[in-house]
Amino acid sequence: MRTKLVAGNWKMNGSLALNAELLKAVRAGKAAAELAVCVPFPYLAQAQAELHGSHVTWGAQDISAQAQGAFTGEVSASMLTDFGCTYVLVGHSERRTLHGETDAVVAAKFAAAQSAGLIPVLCIGETLAERESNITAEVVTRQLEAVLAKSGVAAFANAVIAYEPVWAIGTGLTATPAQAQDVHALIRARVARDDATVAAGVRILYGGSMKPGNARELMQQADIDGGLIGGAALVATDFLGIANAC
Ligand code: PGA
Repeated sequence: MRTKLVAGNWKMNGSLALNAELLKAVRAGKAAAELAVCVPFPYLAQAQAELHGSHVTWGAQDISAQAQGAFTGEVSASMLTDFGCTYVLVGHSERRTLHGETDAVVAAKFAAAQSAGLIPVLCIGETLAERESNITAEVVTRQLEAVLAKSGVAAFANAVIAYEPVWAIGTGLTATPAQAQDVHALIRARVARDDATVAAGVRILYGGSMKPGNARELMQQADIDGGLIGGAALVATDFLGIANAC
Protein backbone atom coordinates (compact mmCIF):
# COMPACT_ATOMS: atom_id res chain seq x y z
CA MET A 1 0.00 0.00 0.00
CA ARG A 2 1.50 3.32 -1.04
CA THR A 3 1.05 6.19 1.43
CA LYS A 4 -0.19 9.27 -0.36
CA LEU A 5 2.23 12.21 -0.37
CA VAL A 6 1.21 15.82 -0.85
CA ALA A 7 4.25 18.03 -1.38
CA GLY A 8 4.19 21.80 -1.71
CA ASN A 9 6.49 23.49 -4.19
CA TRP A 10 6.66 27.07 -3.02
CA LYS A 11 8.82 28.12 -5.98
CA MET A 12 10.33 31.61 -5.51
CA ASN A 13 7.69 32.84 -3.10
CA GLY A 14 7.60 33.75 0.57
CA SER A 15 9.20 35.89 3.23
CA LEU A 16 10.14 35.17 6.82
CA ALA A 17 6.87 36.68 8.01
CA LEU A 18 4.58 34.99 5.47
CA ASN A 19 6.32 31.63 5.85
CA ALA A 20 5.96 31.68 9.63
CA GLU A 21 2.18 31.89 9.28
CA LEU A 22 1.99 29.31 6.53
CA LEU A 23 4.26 26.81 8.26
CA LYS A 24 2.38 27.12 11.54
CA ALA A 25 -0.95 26.58 9.81
CA VAL A 26 0.31 23.57 7.86
CA ARG A 27 1.84 22.09 10.98
CA ALA A 28 -1.41 22.56 12.92
CA GLY A 29 -3.56 20.97 10.19
CA LYS A 30 -4.72 17.39 10.19
CA ALA A 31 -4.09 15.53 6.98
CA ALA A 32 -4.91 12.14 5.60
CA ALA A 33 -1.64 12.11 3.67
CA GLU A 34 2.05 12.57 4.30
CA LEU A 35 2.83 16.28 3.96
CA ALA A 36 6.02 17.96 2.78
CA VAL A 37 7.01 21.48 1.76
CA CYS A 38 9.81 22.35 -0.66
CA VAL A 39 10.91 25.86 0.19
CA PRO A 40 13.48 28.31 -1.23
CA PHE A 41 17.03 27.65 0.06
CA PRO A 42 17.24 30.66 2.41
CA TYR A 43 14.17 29.47 4.28
CA LEU A 44 15.33 25.91 4.97
CA ALA A 45 16.48 26.85 8.47
CA GLN A 46 13.09 28.42 9.13
CA ALA A 47 11.26 25.33 7.84
CA GLN A 48 13.47 23.15 10.02
CA ALA A 49 12.80 25.29 13.11
CA GLU A 50 9.04 25.44 12.53
CA LEU A 51 8.46 21.84 11.45
CA HIS A 52 11.00 19.92 13.51
CA GLY A 53 9.27 17.16 15.47
CA SER A 54 6.01 17.52 13.49
CA HIS A 55 4.39 15.21 10.93
CA VAL A 56 5.40 17.58 8.11
CA THR A 57 8.73 17.06 6.33
CA TRP A 58 10.57 19.65 4.23
CA GLY A 59 12.98 19.90 1.37
CA ALA A 60 14.37 22.05 -1.42
CA GLN A 61 13.51 22.68 -5.05
CA ASP A 62 16.85 21.98 -6.70
CA ILE A 63 20.42 20.93 -5.93
CA SER A 64 23.80 20.90 -7.58
CA ALA A 65 24.98 17.73 -9.25
CA GLN A 66 28.41 18.48 -7.74
CA ALA A 67 29.45 17.48 -4.24
CA GLN A 68 31.47 20.62 -3.36
CA GLY A 69 33.98 23.12 -4.64
CA ALA A 70 34.24 26.03 -7.02
CA PHE A 71 30.62 26.19 -8.19
CA THR A 72 29.54 29.72 -7.34
CA GLY A 73 25.89 30.00 -6.43
CA GLU A 74 25.26 26.26 -6.21
CA VAL A 75 23.93 24.33 -3.21
CA SER A 76 25.00 20.74 -2.59
CA ALA A 77 22.94 17.79 -1.43
CA SER A 78 24.92 17.48 1.80
CA MET A 79 24.11 21.11 2.62
CA LEU A 80 20.44 20.21 2.43
CA THR A 81 20.91 17.31 4.82
CA ASP A 82 22.50 19.79 7.27
CA PHE A 83 19.09 21.42 7.42
CA GLY A 84 17.17 18.19 7.94
CA CYS A 85 15.71 17.99 4.44
CA THR A 86 13.94 14.80 3.46
CA TYR A 87 13.10 15.63 -0.15
CA VAL A 88 14.50 17.59 -3.05
CA LEU A 89 12.85 18.28 -6.39
CA VAL A 90 14.95 17.49 -9.43
CA GLY A 91 14.14 18.31 -13.03
CA HIS A 92 11.18 20.58 -12.41
CA SER A 93 10.01 21.83 -15.81
CA GLU A 94 10.91 25.40 -14.84
CA ARG A 95 14.50 24.24 -14.30
CA ARG A 96 14.49 22.30 -17.55
CA THR A 97 13.00 25.15 -19.57
CA LEU A 98 14.34 28.32 -17.95
CA HIS A 99 17.71 26.98 -16.82
CA GLY A 100 18.47 24.58 -19.63
CA GLU A 101 18.65 21.43 -17.52
CA THR A 102 19.02 18.44 -19.79
CA ASP A 103 17.98 14.87 -19.00
CA ALA A 104 21.65 14.14 -18.25
CA VAL A 105 21.92 17.02 -15.78
CA VAL A 106 18.70 15.94 -14.08
CA ALA A 107 19.96 12.36 -13.83
CA ALA A 108 23.20 13.61 -12.24
CA LYS A 109 21.23 15.69 -9.72
CA PHE A 110 19.02 12.70 -8.90
CA ALA A 111 22.12 10.60 -8.20
CA ALA A 112 23.72 13.38 -6.11
CA ALA A 113 20.56 13.67 -3.99
CA GLN A 114 20.44 9.96 -3.31
CA SER A 115 24.10 9.66 -2.50
CA ALA A 116 23.57 12.22 0.29
CA GLY A 117 20.55 10.32 1.63
CA LEU A 118 17.89 12.67 0.25
CA ILE A 119 14.76 11.41 -1.47
CA PRO A 120 14.68 12.94 -4.95
CA VAL A 121 11.32 13.87 -6.44
CA LEU A 122 11.96 13.42 -10.15
CA CYS A 123 9.72 15.74 -12.16
CA ILE A 124 8.82 14.72 -15.70
CA GLY A 125 6.19 15.83 -18.15
CA GLU A 126 5.44 16.94 -21.68
CA THR A 127 4.81 20.40 -23.12
CA LEU A 128 1.58 21.31 -24.89
CA ALA A 129 3.27 21.02 -28.28
CA GLU A 130 4.53 17.55 -27.37
CA ARG A 131 1.05 16.45 -26.23
CA GLU A 132 -0.49 17.81 -29.40
CA SER A 133 2.11 15.92 -31.44
CA ASN A 134 1.13 12.72 -29.62
CA ILE A 135 4.60 12.18 -28.20
CA THR A 136 3.72 12.39 -24.49
CA ALA A 137 4.66 8.75 -23.90
CA GLU A 138 7.98 9.14 -25.70
CA VAL A 139 8.88 12.29 -23.78
CA VAL A 140 8.14 11.02 -20.28
CA THR A 141 9.76 7.66 -21.08
CA ARG A 142 12.92 9.41 -22.29
CA GLN A 143 13.04 11.60 -19.16
CA LEU A 144 12.57 8.56 -16.93
CA GLU A 145 15.03 6.38 -18.81
CA ALA A 146 17.82 8.94 -18.39
CA VAL A 147 17.59 8.36 -14.64
CA LEU A 148 17.06 4.59 -14.92
CA ALA A 149 20.18 4.36 -17.05
CA LYS A 150 22.33 6.31 -14.60
CA SER A 151 21.02 5.15 -11.21
CA GLY A 152 19.31 1.84 -11.99
CA VAL A 153 15.78 0.80 -11.11
CA ALA A 154 16.65 0.01 -7.49
CA ALA A 155 17.14 3.75 -6.95
CA PHE A 156 13.40 4.17 -7.30
CA ALA A 157 12.87 2.28 -4.04
CA ASN A 158 13.99 5.58 -2.44
CA ALA A 159 12.60 8.13 -4.83
CA VAL A 160 9.36 9.76 -5.84
CA ILE A 161 8.25 10.56 -9.39
CA ALA A 162 6.08 13.58 -10.17
CA TYR A 163 4.23 13.67 -13.45
CA GLU A 164 3.65 17.31 -14.28
CA PRO A 165 2.29 18.12 -17.72
CA VAL A 166 3.99 21.44 -18.47
CA TRP A 167 0.80 22.85 -19.99
CA ALA A 168 -1.00 22.35 -16.67
CA ILE A 169 1.57 24.05 -14.43
CA GLY A 170 0.35 27.37 -13.09
CA THR A 171 -2.13 27.69 -15.94
CA GLY A 172 -5.35 26.64 -14.25
CA LEU A 173 -5.60 23.84 -16.84
CA THR A 174 -5.54 20.44 -15.15
CA ALA A 175 -5.08 17.11 -16.85
CA THR A 176 -8.34 15.18 -16.60
CA PRO A 177 -8.16 12.29 -14.16
CA ALA A 178 -8.15 9.89 -17.12
CA GLN A 179 -5.37 11.77 -18.95
CA ALA A 180 -3.25 11.81 -15.80
CA GLN A 181 -3.96 8.18 -14.96
CA ASP A 182 -2.92 7.08 -18.47
CA VAL A 183 0.50 8.67 -18.09
CA HIS A 184 0.93 7.50 -14.48
CA ALA A 185 0.17 3.93 -15.58
CA LEU A 186 2.67 4.23 -18.40
CA ILE A 187 5.36 5.49 -16.01
CA ARG A 188 4.71 2.66 -13.57
CA ALA A 189 4.74 0.11 -16.39
CA ARG A 190 8.11 1.40 -17.57
CA VAL A 191 9.56 1.01 -14.07
CA ALA A 192 7.94 -2.44 -13.83
CA ARG A 193 9.73 -3.54 -16.99
CA ASP A 194 12.93 -3.29 -14.93
CA ASP A 195 11.53 -4.32 -11.53
CA ALA A 196 7.90 -5.06 -10.71
CA THR A 197 8.36 -4.79 -6.95
CA VAL A 198 9.99 -1.37 -7.16
CA ALA A 199 7.26 -0.24 -9.56
CA ALA A 200 4.52 -1.35 -7.17
CA GLY A 201 6.06 0.69 -4.36
CA VAL A 202 7.15 3.89 -6.06
CA ARG A 203 4.93 6.90 -5.46
CA ILE A 204 3.93 8.83 -8.56
CA LEU A 205 2.53 12.29 -7.80
CA TYR A 206 0.46 14.41 -10.14
CA GLY A 207 1.31 18.11 -10.45
CA GLY A 208 -0.30 20.89 -12.44
CA SER A 209 -3.02 23.18 -11.10
CA MET A 210 -4.15 20.71 -8.45
CA LYS A 211 -6.68 22.38 -6.15
CA PRO A 212 -9.00 21.19 -3.36
CA GLY A 213 -11.82 21.05 -5.92
CA ASN A 214 -10.12 18.69 -8.39
CA ALA A 215 -7.85 16.77 -6.03
CA ARG A 216 -10.28 14.06 -4.96
CA GLU A 217 -10.99 12.75 -8.44
CA LEU A 218 -7.31 12.79 -9.36
CA MET A 219 -6.27 11.06 -6.14
CA GLN A 220 -8.84 8.32 -6.72
CA GLN A 221 -6.98 7.10 -9.81
CA ALA A 222 -5.18 3.82 -9.31
CA ASP A 223 -1.70 5.13 -10.09
CA ILE A 224 -1.90 8.63 -8.60
CA ASP A 225 -0.21 8.60 -5.21
CA GLY A 226 -0.46 12.24 -4.25
CA GLY A 227 0.29 15.69 -5.57
CA LEU A 228 3.06 18.18 -6.17
CA ILE A 229 1.35 21.47 -5.47
CA GLY A 230 2.52 24.90 -6.61
CA GLY A 231 0.12 27.84 -6.27
CA ALA A 232 -2.28 26.12 -3.90
CA ALA A 233 0.58 25.25 -1.51
CA LEU A 234 0.90 28.95 -0.63
CA VAL A 235 -2.55 28.97 0.99
CA ALA A 236 -2.70 26.69 4.02
CA THR A 237 -6.40 25.89 3.71
CA ASP A 238 -5.99 24.92 0.05
CA PHE A 239 -2.89 22.82 0.72
CA LEU A 240 -4.57 21.01 3.60
CA GLY A 241 -7.77 20.72 1.58
CA ILE A 242 -5.83 18.85 -1.12
CA ALA A 243 -4.21 16.62 1.49
CA ASN A 244 -7.60 15.82 2.95
CA ALA A 245 -8.92 14.82 -0.45
CA CYS A 246 -6.66 11.79 -0.24
P1 PGA B 1 0.89 24.52 -9.89
O1 PGA B 1 2.45 24.12 -9.92
O2 PGA B 1 0.22 23.68 -8.84
O3 PGA B 1 0.89 25.99 -9.54
O4 PGA B 1 0.35 24.27 -11.26
C1 PGA B 1 2.85 22.79 -9.78
C2 PGA B 1 4.35 22.70 -9.89
O5 PGA B 1 4.95 23.45 -10.67
O6 PGA B 1 5.00 21.88 -9.20
